[in-house]
Amino acid sequence: MHQPIIPADRLAKLVAAASAVTRQTDLTAVLRTAVETGMDLTGAAYGALGVLGEHGTLIQFVHAGLDGETAAAIGAPPQGRGLLGTISNVGKTVRIERIDDHPDSVGFPRHHPPMETFLGMPVTVGGETFGNLYLTEKPGGFTGDDEALVEALAAIAGSAIATSRMHGRLRRAAVVEDRERIARDLHDAIIQDLFAVGLSLQSLGQKVENPTVKVSLTESVQRLDEAISSLRKFIFDLRPPVWTRRSLKSELADLVGQLAEPYEASIDLTVTGDISDLPGEAVSDVVQVVREATSNALRHSGVARVTVTVHRGADRLVITVADRGRGFDPETVERGMGLDNLRARARDANGETEIISRAGFGTTVRVILPA
Ligand SMILES: Nc1ncnc2c1ncn2[C@@H]1O[C@H](COP(=O)(O)OP(=O)(O)OP(=O)(O)O)[C@@H](O)[C@H]1O
Ligand SMILES: [Mg+2]
Repeated sequence: MHQPIIPADRLAKLVAAASAVTRQTDLTAVLRTAVETGMDLTGAAYGALGVLGEHGTLIQFVHAGLDGETAAAIGAPPQGRGLLGTISNVGKTVRIERIDDHPDSVGFPRHHPPMETFLGMPVTVGGETFGNLYLTEKPGGFTGDDEALVEALAAIAGSAIATSRMHGRLRRAAVVEDRERIARDLHDAIIQDLFAVGLSLQSLGQKVENPTVKVSLTESVQRLDEAISSLRKFIFDLRPPVWTRRSLKSELADLVGQLAEPYEASIDLTVTGDISDLPGEAVSDVVQVVREATSNALRHSGVARVTVTVHRGADRLVITVADRGRGFDPETVERGMGLDNLRARARDANGETEIISRAGFGTTVRVILPA
């Protein structure tokens, strides 16, 4: 694939826009910055960003390049038929020399200035389309480099729209379940996307020589990282307060009950030590570890009796799941996702995993987490 070598000054502009976007709190200002940066980066005479609502209708339209009088004479913003509709529906970038030549073009409204060259793309986050960003009238036409830069810009604008939308929903979300769901959405969609933007900035950075640009790129990536961690913290604060949360003990009791039922198995659950003040992250770690190790025992050990203990000590949390079934050799066993995930989860929490298993003697999985 063609890997564009992006000149340093253009990259610097993109980086400046990325930091402007991560600092802004007013969405309209963010979108305007994105459009203007796109024009500035490419030399396009006009630019616009349309934001789509949940049902695909245009709910916000920011444009630049047209004077006020012309904009007023044109009237309503584009309704998403024609080429713009193609971008949102097909979800792909369109880069063409002459708008009129494109089969989906429906022409321009009255008073609209003539436009020929076009670069447009959907603004998406986590597979969901939030709008489209497009630029027109670059003398000589848009290049592959323009496309790469503006796509990075569209990703940044997308994260901004998604974040702002989540904040809006949060303010309206009164009920606990809603908050939990939104917290999950925030985590899954936005954090992943911010990560992706960070990664692409980082890889763009590897193509630059200019030390000033390198430094400002690094700073931008750092700022994104900070944004990600404050978002993380915000998400954990979103969890319902302790008194509305069900206790870890009853959550575990329900979980093992559900797991045991189809196997008609008997699961001994013992929880000791004070677990009332565990942070939300530790609670979900315990639940996920117990879920995986217990379902492994039920699915693979060949016996229908499993012992689960969770002990909170002075500074650690020990989760043990044991069976006296057929056992396996952890070194040579064909690996699934489960045990790998479990180890990764423990590692992320600065904990340890111990798997003791021997053919014929059974299996003990122990995870020790700091707490
Ligand atoms: N308690 C157990 N008793 C016997 N064998 C086990 C036990 N736990 C795990 N194993 C063996 O280790 C293998 C890997 O476990 P792992 O959880 O990683 O994958 P899986 O359970 O097969 O698939 P997944 O968890 O992705 O659904 C299992 O396929 C099984 O052979
Ligand atoms: Mg498994």
